[in-house]
Amino acid sequence: MAESFEVSMAGEEKYYVPDPSYKEHAWTKDYARAYQEFLADKEGFWEKQAHHLEWFKKWDKVLEWNYPYARWFVNAKLNITSNCLDRHVANHRRNKVALIWRGEEGEERIFTYKKLYHEVCRFANGLKKLGVAKGDRVCIYMPLVPEQVIAMLACARIGAVHSVVFGGFGVNALNMRINDAEAKIVITADVAIRRGKTIPLKTIVEEAIINAPSIEKVVVLSREVDQPVELHKEMEIDFYELMEGVSAECKPEVMDAEDPLFILYTSGSTGTPKGIVHTCGGYMVGTYYTTLNVFDLKDTDVYWCTADTGWITGHSYVVYGPFCVGATVVLAEAVPDYPDAGSFWKIIQDLGITIFYTAPTAIRMFMRVGEEWPNRYDLSSLRILGSVGEPLNPEAFEWYYRIIGKNRCPVVDTWWQTETGMQMITTMVGEPMRPGFAGKAIPGVVADVVTKQGAPVEPGNGGFLVIRDPWPAMLRTVYKNDERYRTYWHTIPDCYTAGDLAVKGKDGNIMIIGRADDIIIVAGHNIGTAEVESALVSHQAVAEAAVIGKPDPLKGNLIKAFVILRVGFQPSEKLKSDLIYHVRMTLGPIAMPSEIDFMDKLPKTRSGKIMRRVLKAKEMGIDPGDVSTLEE
Ligand code: WT7
Repeated sequence: MAESFEVSMAGEEKYYVPDPSYKEHAWTKDYARAYQEFLADKEGFWEKQAHHLEWFKKWDKVLEWNYPYARWFVNAKLNITSNCLDRHVANHRRNKVALIWRGEEGEERIFTYKKLYHEVCRFANGLKKLGVAKGDRVCIYMPLVPEQVIAMLACARIGAVHSVVFGGFGVNALNMRINDAEAKIVITADVAIRRGKTIPLKTIVEEAIINAPSIEKVVVLSREVDQPVELHKEMEIDFYELMEGVSAECKPEVMDAEDPLFILYTSGSTGTPKGIVHTCGGYMVGTYYTTLNVFDLKDTDVYWCTADTGWITGHSYVVYGPFCVGATVVLAEAVPDYPDAGSFWKIIQDLGITIFYTAPTAIRMFMRVGEEWPNRYDLSSLRILGSVGEPLNPEAFEWYYRIIGKNRCPVVDTWWQTETGMQMITTMVGEPMRPGFAGKAIPGVVADVVTKQGAPVEPGNGGFLVIRDPWPAMLRTVYKNDERYRTYWHTIPDCYTAGDLAVKGKDGNIMIIGRADDIIIVAGHNIGTAEVESALVSHQAVAEAAVIGKPDPLKGNLIKAFVILRVGFQPSEKLKSDLIYHVRMTLGPIAMPSEIDFMDKLPKTRSGKIMRRVLKAKEMGIDPGDVSTLEE
């Protein structure tokens, strides 16, 4: 990997400046001043944010930093759900709408804060009936329905550690996550609904728990779209039956600020996915502060984040952050192109969405189908637009700003990760936006672009994106694998290495280029080459496999696999589709290769490591760089 690289950018620097009223009314009115205030007293800055929330007992100390281990709000006691629910039920938000759910056919379910509070309490009491206690791990494998949110909050209510697994993952991926976390319970639904079809989640769970000795019970939400589900009485319990005959009040478990809140698995560049551990106190403060300040969220906003709750975006910016601030949150089991390419715009029009948060891959899809689709709908309610998951390229920025935001709405391109727990880099509402650049570190965060040795690159140059100081919502460890945690802090001296390449603009804005490691971002989803390779190799026809991300105008990257067959197997189109199907069944549809090439040999180092970058360079017709370590 190069130390750093120089970047030449064609054309003059272009900025978009929102109407001054945005700045005037923003929670963070003046970025530069807020950042200076943060630098002058970093812990004091975060302490001030923490005081806005309710604690059973406040901290003795804001931060205890013992590199690379941080403890935030030392000895403080809290429950995040008291802040998400009780706090609002006790004030004027009692009957405010907390959650509006939309199904694919436009069905609607609405929960006020009070109703959500009671549902969470009842389900929490139900979990207690099953013997779930503080510290137990609970796996949630559900479609994007209110019950998923209720299940998460109910776990948090009683101090159980949830591990949400996205419904697009397959049997093996689910099994690995259940076993790693040693989950006691799985909460699922009979089906997910996608493009008018049902996806049988429960069947996948049944297979995934065959070799999962820790599982004691499966809670099943019956959506009753087809026929009623049959439950195996010894093992399975109906979601709503569990909520019968219990109190609608449940005292929140007293959690230490450093007690784990959840585990969320994310792809690693090698080996199995990493169980990223987030804790109660710092995560609450970090997501609360960013939801309020990055989206500039006001009590009257109607906020819609299109991410599935199975991803960190859903954890931080569908559930915990927005509910902590008392927002009206829209949850839609919807895809951007079903029943037609107007589905998202219809939701915005119908519900009067004011803040809309989505991914560049969706924006690029909308660009392709044409502006006539959004133009058919009234999008005038929109106030702020957000983007997350991969670089928002200048063309996509301009389209989003012009066609959806009508040259009026600030666009917050937010850079962050499963590991960071909260948004880290963006252009704060009201500040000048530079297309192609995510922006600057938000007040509260110290980011930089450095060489491999940790020296800051000169403005105008590129290098590795790092975070210098601990931040409250940072991961605390990798579940049962602390060594992998330490790697984040010991790759480049004295900082957290994000794994992304970035460019530091002369104006201080940061442009994110993409991953520097073997992680592929496909349509905003994070997939490790290692996972796909091992899924391929588990097929009887495959001897060896190498996987790369191939740049794609729509999805950012596609998964391309190079496969060596075992003796006795012949390359064929049929075998290609078999292999793709095999990956789909093991890892799930999101990890499916788009292309497979059969090979006789793979480029390797003398020590036998596959050189994916050589394959990638060849694929893209570019110079593979230094190949001195390549075998013969
Ligand atoms: C990786 C983290 C955190 C939300 C969803 C993804 C890429 C994320 C941006 C952005 C450019 C971005 C990075 C990062 N990424 N946001 N605004 N601009 N790239 O979470 O699955 O943990 O993936 O997503 O490469 O490292 P994740």
